[in-house]
Amino acid sequence: MKHLISAKTLSKQDILSVIDGALAMQAELRKGNCHQLDGKIMAALFFEPSTRTRLSFETAMLRLGGNVISTENAREFSSAVKGETLEDTIRVVAGYADVIVLRHNEIGAAARAASVSTVPVLSAGDGAGEHPSQALLDTFTIAKELGRTDDLTVGLVGDLMYGRTVHSLVYTLSQFAGIRFLCAAPAHTPLPDDLIQYAQSRGAQVEFEPSLAKVAGAADVLYQTRIQKERFHSLDEYEASKGLYVVDEAILARMQPTSIIMHPLPRAGEITPAVDRDPRAAYFRQTHYGVPVRMALLTAALVDEEA
Ligand code: NCD
Repeated sequence: MKHLISAKTLSKQDILSVIDGALAMQAELRKGNCHQLDGKIMAALFFEPSTRTRLSFETAMLRLGGNVISTENAREFSSAVKGETLEDTIRVVAGYADVIVLRHNEIGAAARAASVSTVPVLSAGDGAGEHPSQALLDTFTIAKELGRTDDLTVGLVGDLMYGRTVHSLVYTLSQFAGIRFLCAAPAHTPLPDDLIQYAQSRGAQVEFEPSLAKVAGAADVLYQTRIQKERFHSLDEYEASKGLYVVDEAILARMQPTSIIMHPLPRAGEITPAVDRDPRAAYFRQTHYGVPVRMALLTAALVDEEA
C-alpha cells in the first residue's frame, strides 16, 4: 500500500516521478476537468492547525473528481476528546474513505496510523517530525523555478530543529548530486545531528553560517522558516530564538539575481512584506504548486496502486 509517512523512504526515482506527475497535472488543470478519482473519498484528519496543507489536499482531491470528508480540529472535535486512540480513529475512518490525509501533533503518529490502516495514509505533518508532501512540493518548486534539482546551494534558515518541513526537505534534496546546505539557525534550534549525518552520508555538504547575509549571497535557494513557537519547552528559549533572522530588502540586495526565496508559510515576521514584490520571492507560487503535487500524490496512492 502506498503510504507517505517519511521523505526518507523516497528514492530519487520516486521524487522525480512525483515531479513528472505534478507537471502532467498542471497540463491537465489547464485543459479543464480531471476525473481520475471520480467516486473516491479522501478523509482529511487534522489534529493541528492548517491552512495550505489541508485546503490544497482538498482542492487536489476535488480537482480530480473525488470527494472530501474532513475534520479540521480533530483534537477538540473528534472522539479523541473522549479518549479514543489515534489507532482506533484510523481503523474507523479507513472504512469510510479511500485515502486518509493525517496531520497530528505527535512525532511518529503517521507511522502509527499507517500500521493499522487498510487504506493509504498520507502524512500532512507529525509534530516536529516530518512533512513529506511539503518537501515534495518544495522540491517541485525548485525544479520549476530553477530548472534543476542538482548542484544547488540551499540556505536553510530559522527553526531547523522543530521545523518539520526542513527535515523532510533535507531528505528529498539529499537524493540529488552537488547539494550544499548552508545552515543559519538560532542556538536553540540547530539542524538535528541525525539529519546532518544523513545528508552527509548521501554526499551532501552541510555547513554552518551564522551570517544570514552571507547565506543569502551564496544561496540558489534561500529557505526561510518560522520559529515554531508551539514546540518550545521554554518560553525563554523561544524569545531568544525569534527575530534573529529576518529576510528584508537588505538581505534581498545580497542575493544573486537567479536565486529564489522559499518559505513553507505561515510567516510570522521572518520575511518582511516589502520582499514580496521581488520576483525572487517564490513563496506564494510555492503554495500554489501544492495542488498539482498533491494531485500527483493522491493519484499515485489510489489509481497507480490499482493498475
Ligand atoms: C508548515 C507546517 O505546518 O509544518 N506549514 C505548512 O504546512 N505549509 C510550517 C509552519 O507551520 O511553520
